[in-house]
Amino acid sequence: MDRSQQLKAITKRIQSLPTLPQVVNKLTTMVESPEVTAKDVGKLIGSDQVLGAKVLRLVNSPFYGFPGRISSISHAIILLGFNVIKGVVLSASVFDLMEKSMIGLWEHSLGCAVVSGRICRVLNLSDPEEISTAALLHDIGKVLIRVSLQDDYEKIRGLVENRNYSFREAELEILGLDHAQIGSWLAQEWKLPERLTIPITFHHEPHKAPKIRERVSIVHVADSIVRAFGVGSGGDPWVSRISPSAWETLGLSRFDLKEMASQILDDLAEADARLGAPED
Ligand SMILES: [Fe+2]
Ligand SMILES: [Fe+2]
Repeated sequence: MDRSQQLKAITKRIQSLPTLPQVVNKLTTMVESPEVTAKDVGKLIGSDQVLGAKVLRLVNSPFYGFPGRISSISHAIILLGFNVIKGVVLSASVFDLMEKSMIGLWEHSLGCAVVSGRICRVLNLSDPEEISTAALLHDIGKVLIRVSLQDDYEKIRGLVENRNYSFREAELEILGLDHAQIGSWLAQEWKLPERLTIPITFHHEPHKAPKIRERVSIVHVADSIVRAFGVGSGGDPWVSRISPSAWETLGLSRFDLKEMASQILDDLAEADARLGAPED
């Protein structure tokens, strides 16, 4: 079986996608309409109070650059745009399902968003908010494996724990494909824009990205950095090697990496203070 046949076989076994709040489904259709306003979308998200609160908390985190200053969801939409808000709502709801059993992955994803935002600002690239959102969602395929392919998930965990596999190697062995491909399929099902789907799809193979390689490379590098700093868990204890092509694409050698690392540590500490507090 080639990879696309394997993906088809696996997605057939995925009986249902993680159950998302109704609001999220409505939102997906709503943002496609050209007439929709920030107020309409704000109202919809606000109608689910828990989700609304979580979205506000995320958009006020340091990786969006307006820490503590966004007071309403419609304000967030005006500042960040529909795509970012859609990504934030999706990640808030998907990880909500998993908060207890996958807290490590949630922290890994938040950390990756923080680091991506910082790299983007240091490199002076546009749209740090969108790149952070792609980073927030980059490992979404792992959530789907955990929720919808539980037997395989257990086998994968077994290989990681007993045979020193990385999570991705174990996925390739058990499923014949990895969470990036599964995440890519999910992102398409959810009709996410290419600027989010491509980084999800290629974050482990940035050299294969057909476009926006800079964005993909940022998520790739951030993924290794959060692992190196020991923030959360990507499912295994390893720090993945940074691909030389990502390093080159971003021209990282031109920058003062020590300075960048200390900024990243500050950002991570601030994010932890803002997002790590228990929900009330
Ligand atoms: Fe990954
Ligand atoms: Fe990751």
